Amino acid sequence: MALSGQEHDMHLGPIPVEGRVIIVTGATSGIGRATAERLLRHGAVVVGCARDEQRLTHVAAEVPGLEPQRCDVTSSKDRAALIDGVLARHGRIDALVNNAGVGWEGLVEEMETGDVEKLVNTNVTALIDLTRLVLPHMLERGDGHIVMTSSSAGWFSFPPLTVYSATKFAVEGFVEGLRREVSRRGIVVSTVNPGPVATEWLARSQGLQPAEHDSEVRRNPGVPPEWVATAIERSLRRPYSRTAGVPRVMGLARLLQVQPLRMAADVAFGLTAGPLSNFAKKLTADTTPVDPREELQHHSSASN
Ligand SMILES: NC(=O)c1ccc[n+]([C@@H]2O[C@H](COP(=O)([O-])OP(=O)(O)OC[C@H]3O[C@@H](n4cnc5c(N)ncnc54)[C@H](OP(=O)(O)O)[C@@H]3O)[C@@H](O)[C@H]2O)c1
Repeated sequence: MALSGQEHDMHLGPIPVEGRVIIVTGATSGIGRATAERLLRHGAVVVGCARDEQRLTHVAAEVPGLEPQRCDVTSSKDRAALIDGVLARHGRIDALVNNAGVGWEGLVEEMETGDVEKLVNTNVTALIDLTRLVLPHMLERGDGHIVMTSSSAGWFSFPPLTVYSATKFAVEGFVEGLRREVSRRGIVVSTVNPGPVATEWLARSQGLQPAEHDSEVRRNPGVPPEWVATAIERSLRRPYSRTAGVPRVMGLARLLQVQPLRMAADVAFGLTAGPLSNFAKKLTADTTPVDPREELQHHSSASN
């Protein structure tokens, strides 16, 4: 059920997700997939996108009701086609879950230019531009909800996630300004900020493209993605903007923005940057064993 902006103001209780047309980016794995499944169970119309067409087809077969659309969110053409396609088919977009994102662990000096561009293009440019594309339509109706899958790394930055954190800080900055631009005009902007979640994030951060059948062996340590999906669904039911740490205790990460604690963190992470980076590499090697097929994919994507 979609509500107008005025109705939102009057309707302070939870809003059903049933019947709402919701786009979820990065819907074939981890948080995006769990979110799509949860929203569908609650009666939403869900359009899920990702790059790997074969996996999209697999997931659509396993998740009844999911409307798959191939889209590389780093492509401006694909982004426009996604939004235009959903508007053409459904006549409206009630919510956008900007979830697709990639990671990278290591020290900044170890990165290639392409690694930096991939992180910024996927985690920042795509998210801002998809929001920009969907906003005129939502503003015209005076109704819409945009949820960002941000991260606790958007509240405090630490090696070996320095550049990843910088992209999530950008998301937080964008959300702060956007809320001030649109919240009085019926648009709700929420973030969920998870700590570590058991997904394929670490594998994709290495440039791997896990297939559907080997997803289980590639999950990095963390809370179940369903916890984040629950937070996203709860946010979508709220008529006001919401920021949710997952698990809730992750919200304490915001305390590290307070000056004395920030200085202590500077010292602690300054002393441990190298060992933390080595630990992350070992964790990555343990959770993402490379088989010859993947090595091939890894090399071909690196040479593209
Ligand atoms: N896992 C964690 O510990 C954690 C913690 C905090 C925040 N997050 C954030 O949560 C979000 C979801 O991550 P996840 O952990 O669920 O990762 P994941 O298991 O690797 O899933 C990522 C999803 O995004 C899709 N994707 C990646 N690049 C894309 C692109 N350019 N265009 C379209 N789709 C793309 C992937 O499919 P294709 O590869 O087929 O495109 C996949 O469906 C990300 O924004 C991440 O930064 C994750």
